[in-house]
Amino acid sequence: MAKVVTFGLQKGGVSKSTSAGALAYLLSQDGYKTLVIDMDSQGNVTELLTDQPANNFIGKSVFEAIVYKQPKEYTYKVNENLYVLPSNNYLALFAKWIYTKTLPNNELVKYEGKVFEQLNLMIDEIRNDYDYILIDTPPSLSEQTTNSLYASDYVVVLFEASKFCYSAIPNFMESVEISQQISPNKVEPIGMLRTLNDKRRSDAKFFNEKIAEDYPELVFETVITRKASTGRLPFFGFEDNDELSDALSQYREVYKELLKRIGE
Ligand SMILES: Nc1ncnc2c1ncn2[C@@H]1O[C@H](COP(=O)(O)OP(=O)(O)OP(=O)(O)O)[C@@H](O)[C@H]1O
Ligand SMILES: [Mg+2]
Repeated sequence: MAKVVTFGLQKGGVSKSTSAGALAYLLSQDGYKTLVIDMDSQGNVTELLTDQPANNFIGKSVFEAIVYKQPKEYTYKVNENLYVLPSNNYLALFAKWIYTKTLPNNELVKYEGKVFEQLNLMIDEIRNDYDYILIDTPPSLSEQTTNSLYASDYVVVLFEASKFCYSAIPNFMESVEISQQISPNKVEPIGMLRTLNDKRRSDAKFFNEKIAEDYPELVFETVITRKASTGRLPFFGFEDNDELSDALSQYREVYKELLKRIGE
């Protein structure tokens, strides 16, 4: 049965999509059959892994997969071990569908179950088809994120060393706790990843240490620094990328820590 891992924080630009994409790629290279579910209407991890504009997946996305509970029809194959349920701009209307049962074209599509378990019910259709399912979430505690937490066994919390990010953590952890109480999956925080670190900045050092004091068990030992090659991953992708090894070097360490914690 797949282990389902959400990458989240309601703060923008903290490397959720990059980290989900990089770790999914490493899992797939290691022989694990991996699905990435893009729950962010920005479609960033979709573009990162498919090398196509997210708009290519209009009408063929995770939104339809959830609405019709037919994920296999909408899954895009990157390679033998790596698959994506893509998203696009229309996923911004996910909440509208959840609450009014109407799609962007105003078609009425009813559903069974609760508002926050729709993604979980879709994943039930494919849980046995993968070793890992990684979910990328938007920078908000919206229905996409609560559905993701509800459907997950684990959550990796992203942390960029800044005051606003530090302020965002308690509310995110509260959402994780609520999900633990209501979901049979009982999402467990499996790590907090400090990202986009700038070694020259003393305030970054301060917040990195502060978050480690607050969550000593949770922080990964590896701290991801800003690296041009990692920042260029959306441009060069994972195929025929001369600097891929350098771009992923820090993520290889996080990967080892993650698998160890999960117990692989
Ligand atoms: N280690 C890194 N070094 C340099 N650039 C990075 C690194 N990690 C991510 N980036 C870049 O930083 C930006 C934000 O990263 P990303 O899109 O992964 O964050 P996000 O949390 O998913 O953002 P959003 O909240 O908008 O979904 C992107 O331009 C990405 O390419
Ligand atoms: Mg993102």
